Amino acid sequence: MKLLLITLTVYYTVEVSSISLTPLENGITGTGKTTRYWDCCKPSCGWAENLRDKSGTPIRTCKKDGTTTAGTSVQSACAGGESYTCNDQQPRAINSTLALGFVAASFTGGVDTNMCCACILLSFEGELQGKKMLVQVTNTGSDLSSNHFDIAIPGGGVGIFTQGCSSQWGAPSNGWGQQYGGVASADECSQLPDALQTGCKFRFEFLLNVSNPSVKFEQVQCPSEIVDISGCTY
Ligand SMILES: *[C@@H]1O[C@H](CO)[C@@H](O)[C@H](O)[C@H]1NC(C)=O
Ligand SMILES: *[C@@H]1O[C@H](CO)[C@@H](O)[C@H](O)[C@H]1NC(C)=O
Repeated sequence: MKLLLITLTVYYTVEVSSISLTPLENGITGTGKTTRYWDCCKPSCGWAENLRDKSGTPIRTCKKDGTTTAGTSVQSACAGGESYTCNDQQPRAINSTLALGFVAASFTGGVDTNMCCACILLSFEGELQGKKMLVQVTNTGSDLSSNHFDIAIPGGGVGIFTQGCSSQWGAPSNGWGQQYGGVASADECSQLPDALQTGCKFRFEFLLNVSNPSVKFEQVQCPSEIVDISGCTY
């Protein structure tokens, strides 16, 4: 009997859950709002001093090509430097109900680096009910309210920092599409560089063009699938 139970457990783990979504003990939960942005700037969790564990590894940031890792002390392109968001921090669908991505977030309202690199499972409500997105906090923002997740989606609008994408990709001075909200269709994603188009289309495919869906959220352990991309452990 004991042997049989062990066999079943192993089978379940391997076959049903290819990405493990394990709630973090004493982690935070709640309801929140989402918006979207992609400003090409160095995310603030790319600075070691913004991590809870100052000796930890910050979020990977990139040189102008969006793929070569930039040094952690290189200033953001949005503050006169040469460090940008890495292309691989764009969102991706794992299947029709689960996606993986990165967010600027605030839990307290305003700049909130306390949660840098935390992983959060967002469960969309309303029209997107049933879809979830596992995100890692890479950034924060002075314009964020509490329990606010600003999902990093290329072509989602540059927001308050207009200079990053023009410097990196020659984007229009207020970004692709509207400064807040970005492009209006998957076709308009063709304005973006090839390397960012999949993430741009994510909004019209996985997110079904639903604008700023509300969410329930739960902090989870960061799975290797996300840490392998960002380099940051919580
Ligand atoms: C999507 O993947 C997750 C995690 O691997 C899994 O739990 C879920 O059942 C999958 N959904 C579908 C529709 O296959
Ligand atoms: C997406 O939704 C917005 C409204 O939020 C609308 O203006 C736009 O036309 C829609 N795009 C598509 C391709 O349906």
